[in-house]
Amino acid sequence: MDKIIAYLKANQERFLAELFEYLRFASVSAQPKHKPDLQACAEWLVAHCRQIGLEAEVRPTDGHPIVVAKTPREAGSRKPHYVVYGHYDVQPPEPLELWKSPPFEPRIEGRNLFARGSTDNKGQNFAHLKAVEAYLKTGTPLPCDLTFVIEGEEEVGSANLDKFLSRHRQELKCEAFVISDTGMPSLKHPALTYGLRGIIAFEITLTGPARDLHSGIFGGAVDNPAMALAQLLAKVRDNRGRITIPGFYDGVLPLTKYEREQNKLYPIKDAQLKKLLGVRELFGEQGFSATEQRSARPTFEINGLTSGYQGEGSKTIVPSWARAKITCRLVPNQKPEKIRKAVLAWLKKNSSPTVKLEITAGHGAEAYHFDPTGKPAQAALRALEKAFKHKPVLMREGGSIPIVNQFKKILGADSLLLGIGLPDDNAHSPNEKFNLDCFEKGQLMGAYLWQELVR
Ligand code: BES
Ligand code: ZN
Repeated sequence: MDKIIAYLKANQERFLAELFEYLRFASVSAQPKHKPDLQACAEWLVAHCRQIGLEAEVRPTDGHPIVVAKTPREAGSRKPHYVVYGHYDVQPPEPLELWKSPPFEPRIEGRNLFARGSTDNKGQNFAHLKAVEAYLKTGTPLPCDLTFVIEGEEEVGSANLDKFLSRHRQELKCEAFVISDTGMPSLKHPALTYGLRGIIAFEITLTGPARDLHSGIFGGAVDNPAMALAQLLAKVRDNRGRITIPGFYDGVLPLTKYEREQNKLYPIKDAQLKKLLGVRELFGEQGFSATEQRSARPTFEINGLTSGYQGEGSKTIVPSWARAKITCRLVPNQKPEKIRKAVLAWLKKNSSPTVKLEITAGHGAEAYHFDPTGKPAQAALRALEKAFKHKPVLMREGGSIPIVNQFKKILGADSLLLGIGLPDDNAHSPNEKFNLDCFEKGQLMGAYLWQELVR
C-alpha cells in the first residue's frame, strides 16, 4: 500500500487538471441540445481510462452511451470480480444567474472545486479511477478484477442500462457493485449507505380556455387552470405533513427500534440543517425526525410549476394551461406502479371538471435496502475508516439510484454505497462543489477497498 499512497500523494495536481477537463463537458442528459456533449464526454472518458491502463470502450445505446473499462485480465483469471458504477451525466445547471462562476468552467476556492457534476457524480467516481490508476501505474497487483460501468442517463432514470445489463449478464457477473454517488455527514463521519429511496415521476397538465384570455373581460366566468392546479395540489398534503392520497402509505416499512436509535446519533442536528438549507423552519411529517423524514418516509414533491406569464412586469390574463412536474420518493415495500396508480386515480377523482387533466408518466424505481452486517459491508467499513481515520456511520439516504435494484434483480449483486459527497455540496443546485479532502480520501478509500474486500 505504501507505493500506492505515495503515488496518490505525488499526483494530486495532475488529477485535478484531469478532473477539470472531465467537468468541462456540459453532459446534461435531460436536455437534447447536449447530446453531442454527452458523446464527447464518453469518448474523453474512454481515452482517459486507456491512458491509465484500463481496457475501455464506448458502448452505444438507444440513448446516451455507456463507458465500460476493465482492468487487464490475466489469462483464465479466477480473481473475484467487482463492478464500479458511476455516471458522467449531470443535472441541468439552471438557473444560471445564481452561479458564482459558470457551471462548466471548474474553479477551486479553498478546498472546494466548483462545477456542475463535481460531486454528482464525476468527482466521486473519478476518485475510484485514480485509486485503480495507482495500482496499475505502480505495478501493484490488484487482488480482484474490476470493471467500471459509467453511464450517461442516471439523472434521467437509466432507461437504457437495464437492457445493457440483461445483454451482458456474463460480462458483468460480480461479487458486488461499488458506487460512490451518495453522501456522508461530514469529513469526520464517513458513511456506508444501506438504503436509498425509490421514485416515481410524472407531469400533470390542466387545460382551460383554448388560449390565454383577457382576465378583465373573461375572468370570473371561466376557471383559471393555475388556480385549479394550486387547489388540486394543495389537497395532496395536510397541514401535519401527511400525504392524503388513500393507499399512499400502505405497507411502508416501519423504522426499526435500532434504526430510530441510530438516527438520533446522526451528526447533523436540526438547527444546523435549518441553517444549511436557509429555511425559516423545518417542515415534515409529524412524529419523525428530519433525518427520518428525508431518508425513510415517502414524499410527494412538486419539482416545477409553470403557468401563465413569467416575463417582466404584469400581464392580465387567464392562462390557458398550468403544469406541474412531480416526483414521489418511495421507501421499502412501496411498489412504484401501485403508488403511481393510486396517485393518478386520486388526481383524476379530485381534478375539477372545469379543466382538462392530462398526466404523462415518467421514470420509476423501487427503494433499495440491504443488510449492512454482511462481509462486504464490513470490508467497506474498514476501508472507510482507514482512509478517513474516523469511525464510519451506517445510514439510509433519501436520494435514488434507480439502477441498483436492477443490479440485484438481473445480476443478483448488492451495491456498496460509499458516498464521499458532503451535505453542503449543492448537488442539483447552483454552485455545486466537491471537497478536495473528500476527493483525496476517497481515492485512498478506493485503494484500501480492494484489499479489504478480498481479505
Ligand atoms: N447521486 C444521486 C443520488 C443520491 C444523492 C443518493 C444523495 C443519495 C444521496 C443521483 O445522481 C441522483 O440524483 N439521482 C436522481 C435519480 C432520479 C433522477 C431518477 C435523484 O435521486 O433525484
Ligand atoms: Zn444526481
